[in-house]
Amino acid sequence: MQHKSSLLSDKSSYIWAIITGLLSSSCCIIQLVLNIFSIGCAGFSILTPYRPIFLSFTTILILYTITKYGLKSKRTLIILLISLSLSSSPELISLYNQGRITSNSEKSLIKEIEIFVVQIEGISCEGCANRIKTQIDSKPFVIDSKVYFNNQSAIVSVIPGNYKSIDIETWVKMVDFKYEAKVIQQYIESKY
Ligand SMILES: *[C@@H]1O[C@H](CO)[C@@H](O)[C@H](O)[C@H]1NC(C)=O
Repeated sequence: MQHKSSLLSDKSSYIWAIITGLLSSSCCIIQLVLNIFSIGCAGFSILTPYRPIFLSFTTILILYTITKYGLKSKRTLIILLISLSLSSSPELISLYNQGRITSNSEKSLIKEIEIFVVQIEGISCEGCANRIKTQIDSKPFVIDSKVYFNNQSAIVSVIPGNYKSIDIETWVKMVDFKYEAKVIQQYIESKY
């Protein structure tokens, strides 16, 4: 009897860590999984405004686990790991989308790059921004791209002379027709 009930609360606290963590991440993790299956950017971003509320649930769960099981228990460790990794995922994906955790070794070999600054309306979360980045990065002459959810824009670096503004606007449109993409700046940057 004793054993059974403790098993149940074992599982349920992990499940709560996952649920509050996923909710705290707004659409990020779920959308990233959907991206793998090429499922469009869904409506999870409606959760974004409530993120502070879900984050406080996560905090309460962590504090509760620590007071009940102590800081050094395995359960506390796992709950912390699940909660923190899930709820911080939007920030991690944001860093990736902004090209801060990708290697730029290829870029340094190229002497001239053409830059397109694109305004993209309709990006609803970091997971969706990531979908746009993946699409742009898949094009052969793209050196790298940064997609900003915060100010709804992207900076695309390409090997000069291969693409026109309309190409880039079309790529974004191909991800989802709801996006309104417009190139607002285009210039060549020389590395000499
Ligand atoms: C969006 O923000 C980034 C930095 O966070 C900046 O580099 C970029 O130029 C901004 N985009 C536009 C269109 O202002």
